[in-house]
Amino acid sequence: MNFQVNSKHEIADIKRRIVESAEHAKIHLGLTEEDIEKLRLEAAKVKPHLHGVAERATDQLLRDPEALAVVEKAGLTRERAVALFEEWLRQLFEGDYGEEYVLRLFKAGLIHVKVGVNERLMISQMGVFAKELLPLVDEKDALVKALSWNLAVMVYSYNYIKHVVFRDTIGVKKSLMERLFDMTTEELIGKLSDHARVKA
Ligand code: HEM
Repeated sequence: MNFQVNSKHEIADIKRRIVESAEHAKIHLGLTEEDIEKLRLEAAKVKPHLHGVAERATDQLLRDPEALAVVEKAGLTRERAVALFEEWLRQLFEGDYGEEYVLRLFKAGLIHVKVGVNERLMISQMGVFAKELLPLVDEKDALVKALSWNLAVMVYSYNYIKHVVFRDTIGVKKSLMERLFDMTTEELIGKLSDHARVKA
């Protein structure tokens, strides 16, 4: 299969798009350098709690049958899951949210796509982290923005990979793909029409 992501130019272009998308997400959320600095100032206080947060978040994850199936298939041990979560949590408070951070996060998103973690699991798991972390910090506003941004960057990989696969394997142009999504979604909305839509 010819995935056109191997030329230097293409990879540079992908990186540029990812970083741009992450910047847009920052603007949308109002996540500023000040917020990032506020989180850094909270780091020393929350650090002793991060291992416990990672453990509780892992245990909650393992209670979900779908997640458990993915974990087993990927051969992910509880210990490794706790370590991965703890390192990510440390970055959440101490990271600079720059290009390297974005690309690492995007790559983590791709790893989740690869092992079969669906978006529903990803989003719920971020909620678990929010529930655990919010009582530990004073800067709740900055934390909510940072968690949402991390999620937005990871979820972007799902969309990006769909786009590449449609383009390179099926040869479907973005505009046609959007039209197909649009038609199928409209059809489904129609079929669910007995469920009332919100009236503005
Ligand atoms: C807020 C949500 C999540 C965060 C922040 C997160 C974070 C991470 C990170 C940082 C990695 C390492 C990526 C790398 O190697 O560069 C990872 C890997 C992984 N995650 Fe997650 N994750 C999340 C949700 C989930 C969920 C819901 C599952 C479901 C089972 C999951 C399963 C895995 C697996 C199987 C791996 C690969 C482990 C390995 O390399 O051995 N993650 N995750």
